[in-house]
Amino acid sequence: MTAGIGLTALNTLQLHASAERLVTLTSSDQLRAEIAALDEGAVPHVLGGGSNVILCDHLPGTTMLMAIKGREVLSDDDTKVVIRVGAGESWHDFVVWCHHQGFHGLANLALIPGSVGGAPIQNIGAYGVEVADCIEAVHAVHRQTGERACLSLEDCEFRYRDSVFKHEAGAEWIITEVDFVLDREAPVEANYPTLRARLSKAELTHDAVLAAVISIRRERLPDPVITPNVGSFFKNPVISQQDIDILRQNFPEVPVYPASNDAVKISAAWLIDQLGWRGEERDGVKVSDDHALVLEGCGARSAAAWLALAADIAASVKEAYDVSLELEPRVIGAAG
Ligand code: EPU
Repeated sequence: MTAGIGLTALNTLQLHASAERLVTLTSSDQLRAEIAALDEGAVPHVLGGGSNVILCDHLPGTTMLMAIKGREVLSDDDTKVVIRVGAGESWHDFVVWCHHQGFHGLANLALIPGSVGGAPIQNIGAYGVEVADCIEAVHAVHRQTGERACLSLEDCEFRYRDSVFKHEAGAEWIITEVDFVLDREAPVEANYPTLRARLSKAELTHDAVLAAVISIRRERLPDPVITPNVGSFFKNPVISQQDIDILRQNFPEVPVYPASNDAVKISAAWLIDQLGWRGEERDGVKVSDDHALVLEGCGARSAAAWLALAADIAASVKEAYDVSLELEPRVIGAAG
């Protein structure tokens, strides 16, 4: 590891990465002052909860740790509530707090590791809900100019595990606050098969959904505090109706979910599982025994080992099914 500030405790893969300089951000004004003080052309790295990133060994220049806190109710008409939340708040704590206030919409996203500011980047999703369903606006600061912006839902270009923040047009924005719109009268969302199977008719309540989501996640996904992981390591591929027709001729049992009018999402876990990867271990990284889409650390401390296993899995899926897998976490640093 190059000398610098250790980031091991700040990423859930527990990679032994380091930053040349680390600044903790507690307000957007401080962020703008830090940007103004950077050398011309310098672009800072930003870390949130560190739960969906693969950090390269050394991050040169300035890395900013997002720690802007706060939850402010902006409006409340007794049904809908708009809340502004600091990007550095814990995602799960915010979900539980909303539930206790009776502000509904986010229970299906309980226990997703990470921070509020990371949620829109990936458009986090689970058990039939995506965070974009409850976002009204995203506030951000430009990482080179310090300019402030408020991005509307449309500006954010949310898609399956994707948003403008993952593309060139939006990659320069550092998210500082997110405005959520929640609903005291929102219906329970329990159509996702694994979730529905847990709940009897009498249990179609927000309380029961929250408890069921927490228990399903605890059973199927490793706790990053104990086992290094970032949840799903790949996105579920979205392919055209034409391509799925071809794939289904050879593999009629491949699980398929609707994506848009002319495309479908296929289960990456199933493709990987069929090729026998579950439990496979290489250089301190292992495909989870419980979920083929999840890689777990068992000793690896450098991004290279994770990326190598991921590349081998993706190559085998490409060869067997002619389907390309995309990484779900973001690579931060040189290899990115
Ligand atoms: N499956 C297998 N083998 C496995 C696991 C699953 O064949 O080892 C197949 C089964 O047919 C199963 C299907 O895959 O029914 C779907 O599995 P699951 O319900 O776990 O969903 P997923 O598509 O694999 C996605 C998200 C998860 C989220 C779950 C539940 C992505 C990339 N992942 O996984 O999100 O928790 O749905 O909604 O979309 C994450 O993003 O980090 C994450 C964990």
